Amino acid sequence: MENIDITTNINGIQLSSCIMNASGAICRTDIELSNLLNSSSGAIVTKSCTKHPRKGNSYPRYFEWNIGSINSMGLPNYGIDFYLDFLERKKITKPVLISIAGRSIDEISFIIQKSNFCSKISALEINLSCPNLIENKNQGIVGYDFCVVSHFLEKIFRFHEKPIGLKLPPYFRDIHIENMSLILNKFPISFITCINSIPNGIFIDVNKESTVIRPNKGFGGIGGSIIKPFALANVFKFYSFLRKEISIIGCGGIQSGKDMFEYILCGASAVQIGTQLIKEGISVFDRLNQEFSSLLRKKKYSSIDDFKGKLQNIL
Ligand code: DHB
Repeated sequence: MENIDITTNINGIQLSSCIMNASGAICRTDIELSNLLNSSSGAIVTKSCTKHPRKGNSYPRYFEWNIGSINSMGLPNYGIDFYLDFLERKKITKPVLISIAGRSIDEISFIIQKSNFCSKISALEINLSCPNLIENKNQGIVGYDFCVVSHFLEKIFRFHEKPIGLKLPPYFRDIHIENMSLILNKFPISFITCINSIPNGIFIDVNKESTVIRPNKGFGGIGGSIIKPFALANVFKFYSFLRKEISIIGCGGIQSGKDMFEYILCGASAVQIGTQLIKEGISVFDRLNQEFSSLLRKKKYSSIDDFKGKLQNIL
């Protein structure tokens, strides 16, 4: 049987499979990251890390139901030094993306500069979409404040050494994606990852007549299959507005090889798995690699370049 090529390239970074974990999904501890290294994912992404360790919010802070998930984790992580030390100790066999968050431009700049010394990091995924990142008027989600994003990129591209990608929040208007693309196109960005969870949802337990998570009055970021149509739309729109040199990693509600295919049809070069990885565990990568390869074989495609970004409008 003809070999199906599911490798990909994120702006020069070669991946043996176009599937990886989403930041935040079982990628915080030594064991979780070791399991990811040993899995059949094409790359690994760490939990967003800060300058100092953080315990995160009170429990329960994550909940999932049949078609979605809600979280208000509060950035629990062991701090950048833990992740750098982990990489120094481990044999690294696939690209490693360090996700970076922080409450200020200075904190993020500090972490970027520290990461420059670690040869085992392939790229940085800077999280512009987590709540509590930088004090601003848009609920703390930096990606919603275009002036702050512009100022931030001006600063970090003065001293970066590693390839830099940005994890973006979902946008719901064309003009927002167009304007964000105009900013991003001015900088040597390697990739964007879209989308982060849809902010400010609630899920209700009717028996208890209460929310299902405790922090933030029960409000949290929504993930899982219910967000997939919004995520696909963001990938497709960004693909049409961004310079072709900026790769797109799609994220949001992927559960099957068919879902992966949809993202690549919209222009993604790779995909990330969040909620489904938490639900199913590390074997999700084997299953998705197989489902995706089978689908390509059935469609008589031999690699993702045969259909990437080629979504048609129905006639
Ligand atoms: C957290 C949630 C996010 O959506 C994110 O991008 C970063 C951190 C959190 O609550 O830990």
